[in-house]
Amino acid sequence: MKRFIQHEELARDSRFIRQPNVMVQVLANLPDDVDAVVDAFDQMAPMIEIGVKGTEAESLFDAYGPGFALIVFNEPLDPEAPAAAERLQLRMHGIFVGELQALEGAGRSLWDFPDAPWEFKMNMARQCWDEARHVQIFEKLLDHVGGYVGMFPEATFLFECACSDDPALRVAGVNRGLEGLACDVFRDMIRYAEKSGDEVMRQAIDYVLADEITHVRFGSTWVREFCKGDPERLERAQAFRREVDKQFSFGGSRSDREDAAIPIAWEDRKEAGFTEEELQELAAISGDGPSKKTLTEAARILRERHLARRAEAQGASA
Ligand SMILES: [Fe+2]
Ligand SMILES: [Fe+2]
Repeated sequence: MKRFIQHEELARDSRFIRQPNVMVQVLANLPDDVDAVVDAFDQMAPMIEIGVKGTEAESLFDAYGPGFALIVFNEPLDPEAPAAAERLQLRMHGIFVGELQALEGAGRSLWDFPDAPWEFKMNMARQCWDEARHVQIFEKLLDHVGGYVGMFPEATFLFECACSDDPALRVAGVNRGLEGLACDVFRDMIRYAEKSGDEVMRQAIDYVLADEITHVRFGSTWVREFCKGDPERLERAQAFRREVDKQFSFGGSRSDREDAAIPIAWEDRKEAGFTEEELQELAAISGDGPSKKTLTEAARILRERHLARRAEAQGASA
């Protein structure tokens, strides 16, 4: 049987639309410079437009142009904000496909390393069980907020970035990078549910977060275990997690900055085995992207150019 499948081979039914990962990589490496951000997104515009065709994100593209992702990633969820319902659906859909990929990541970890200790396999099996339940919970929550499966394109960057064929790096990427991000996002969603008075969402996500803390703990334990007596492998695993954390910070949107859309869930992560030193490092890695002011200004210029292009095209065809 085949091992280490590529992300292109992840099985999806016809409801799902795949989106390339380029945008997340670009976002992770943007400098704090308005022109550079505008240029990067302008260049990606045709690709972004193709990616949203036939999905509910098409209306977001129409309204904001290729920079719509900047607005979505950058602004905290707020029940009072414009297009709050659509943005909540987009977040919820992203979490739903994230849970699918977490299930696939944990399933791969169980299958890919036949020589790993029995306890490791049991932990990964337990995680699969949890993630399968999370997929169902978020499918229901997506419905709860008026969304449906396949309404937005799916980027498989979580699976792509977090999977390595070394088990120490795999758990560093999936269980500490990806699952750590899940802790940040879910703590933020609980805050949102409290703010909007949504008790169903608050309670459901609170249960899920408890599982995610356990999954990070698996990562904390197994990175240590796999790297016992091998400081070089430990350094490789830590370096891989730093790389994953950089990508999963979306240019500072998930960070410890005051203006972050998704703050780091400091207390939850400590409970899950992150050290104070690792968290300080995460804050430094995630916080050095472009500032919110830069991204907001870039989004404004991108929208203006997009609307001007549309008006020009309409004028030409009239
Ligand atoms: Fe999960
Ligand atoms: Fe998880």
